[in-house]
Amino acid sequence: MNRPTIPLRRLHALSEREIEGLADVLVDCVEGGASVSFVLPFPREKALEFWQRVARDLDEGKRAVLVAEDALGICGTVQLVLDLPDNQPHRADLVKMLVHRRARRQGLGAALMRAAESTARDCGKTLLVLDAVTGGDAERLYARLGWTRVGSIPNYALMPDGSPCGTTYFYRSVDKHRAHTP
Ligand SMILES: CC(C)(COP(=O)(O)OP(=O)(O)OC[C@H]1O[C@@H](n2cnc3c(N)ncnc32)[C@H](O)[C@@H]1OP(=O)(O)O)[C@@H](O)C(=O)NCCC(=O)NCCS
Repeated sequence: MNRPTIPLRRLHALSEREIEGLADVLVDCVEGGASVSFVLPFPREKALEFWQRVARDLDEGKRAVLVAEDALGICGTVQLVLDLPDNQPHRADLVKMLVHRRARRQGLGAALMRAAESTARDCGKTLLVLDAVTGGDAERLYARLGWTRVGSIPNYALMPDGSPCGTTYFYRSVDKHRAHTP
């Protein structure tokens, strides 16, 4: 399978332009039916507010944010929540894995996941946890990349149209001595 040519980078702060671009990706995903915390209608202001909060967390070192950018702007992103309780200093949550519909099915999701795992190692994290809609595209991606499925909770959240969906939890050890499998 071809590797994507879309470059990835880690952002250590979010500019206004980046917040706008990230909001575009989030709106596209929610309008496309992704269950990523929000329901429809999803005004752009709400997306901007979300990324402004992320920007504040970034400033405080509480998150890591990765983005992919094509000729039209930011087209993919993923985050690590680094700021977890004192008894989990080795762990991070992987959240808001988002690829704009224009950039899907080219391997970008997989590339963002690998980059997030590498960033987690750089941050001294050895265990990652995430959740995904049961039976969705993302669940397939994480299983393909070697993440361990823990189990599913029925009726955990809502799809953007308000219908209920289950959530499946995954974890992955990203110990630096463990090679990436796929
Ligand atoms: C889930 C998501 C991140 C995947 O992103 P993506 O960039 O499409 O991921 P990939 O391209 O790595 O893989 C997706 C599919 O494309 C296929 N693919 C990858 N590269 C390909 C290529 N060059 N040619 C053809 N197919 C390809 C993969 O095999 C995979 O197939 P499958 O879905 O049948 O298993 C994306 O669909 C998305 O953002 N969804 C909405 C938001 C969301 O739900 N996020 C998850 C929150 S937990």
